[in-house]
Amino acid sequence: MQITVIGLGYVGLVNAVYLASLDREVFGYDIDKNKISLLRQGVSTLEEPNLQSLLTESLHNLRFSSNHKDAIRHATHIFICVDTPQAKDGSVDLKNFYSVLDNIVEDSVQDQCIIIRSTVPVGTNRIVKKYLEDRSQYHFDVISFPEFLSQGKAVENMIQPDRLILGVSDQKGIAHAKEIAQMYLIKKAPVMITSCENAEMIKYASNSFLAMKISYINNIAQLCEKVGADVEKVAKGMSLDPRIGESFLKAGIGYGGSCFPKDTNGLYWIANDNSVPMEIVRSTIKINESQVQFFLDKIYKRFKSLSALNVAVLGVAFKGGTEDVRQSQAIPIVKAMLEKNANVVVYDPLAMDNFQKLFARHTHIKYVDYPSDALKNADVALILNDSEEFLSLKPIDFIMNMRKPVIFDGRNLYKVESMEGTEYHSIGRPSLTTKVKSRKSL
Ligand code: UGA
Repeated sequence: MQITVIGLGYVGLVNAVYLASLDREVFGYDIDKNKISLLRQGVSTLEEPNLQSLLTESLHNLRFSSNHKDAIRHATHIFICVDTPQAKDGSVDLKNFYSVLDNIVEDSVQDQCIIIRSTVPVGTNRIVKKYLEDRSQYHFDVISFPEFLSQGKAVENMIQPDRLILGVSDQKGIAHAKEIAQMYLIKKAPVMITSCENAEMIKYASNSFLAMKISYINNIAQLCEKVGADVEKVAKGMSLDPRIGESFLKAGIGYGGSCFPKDTNGLYWIANDNSVPMEIVRSTIKINESQVQFFLDKIYKRFKSLSALNVAVLGVAFKGGTEDVRQSQAIPIVKAMLEKNANVVVYDPLAMDNFQKLFARHTHIKYVDYPSDALKNADVALILNDSEEFLSLKPIDFIMNMRKPVIFDGRNLYKVESMEGTEYHSIGRPSLTTKVKSRKSL
């Protein structure tokens, strides 16, 4: 088996390195020459736990190139892992995906098995076979193999998957699917071999369901604030019902990242395209969008003006444990602070460089190396992701560093009662506003 992985983002690079770690020779292709140059030197281009060590161990089995001819010619198995971003109208932009197919048509010199790990609209994988075979003299087997990696846990998820879902379009595909599943089964996991349409649908339905859970609890959180309930206690009580479970019931400023926003919009678009109104997905998206405004309104209500206020922003990646700022909730929140002329100081353990690139025009944002530096003389601290480092912050860290310890916690990181001494606001829980200490009083 000669494996080529096309597209070395989260999905592609983790797949390539994982397959190489099984002592298979893997050819990795990406259009980005800079990325290829770093990977050739054995430098991981992603901040993922254990990825660098796995890459170092497996480098002898990996070749990297930005020449698609080299990558495609000798491959018997091609894993397509390019991004399929959201288009302006909410549909899925397949430009990159089809350009890979065109490269395959151009460069292949033999029959090939194409394994699609990119998230593509339902029906795409079946079209792929026809698209390739109409344009090439070779035969192609196409397997739909959606990925279920979570950023920050990508290597762990790859080594120990919850499930493997593989979609095939005919009987012959089943043998290929079994062979591929075997490579991903170093630990036991349920394997489902089904139709391409089912596999594609499972990916959209799973991500949208998880996003829906988040929007549901966020909607409940808004109501909790009105009726004097505590959403953390409500979620805990709900999760004691094993049918509901405890995952994805953490209220906050909403979901971001490269998957949930894109896939909920994609599913809504696919449903509309098939004349199936999917109001539940539309509400999921709408609630998520409103959650940032909900958070901002709390801040606006607390301060008459934000002009010249020192704002410490802790966490700008879309979640803790990653350097990824794509669709991060921090983006509109920091923009809003800048529009109100606040002085913004940012700290994130991993994502500062990426955020700085995004806000390159805003040269007056300050980036600091420690949370305490961000908090120094701040009038308000905004906690926007669940980076592990923030969990160890104590009221004293806010009281001793800030002008006044006013905290808006967008991820409900702390127990309300543990924050005594600070003015503490969070999502869907009562605020602490009395007995606020200042550094002078200590
Ligand atoms: C998500 C899915 O969890 C993976 O199963 C899937 O494979 C992946 O998308 C994908 O399609 O590639 P990911 O985007 O890495 O993974 O991140 P999640 O951990 O799911 O978090 C997404 C967002 O939801 C984050 O902004 C997070 O802070 C937020 N979130 C998550 C909540 O607000 N509340 C929760 O209870 C859970």
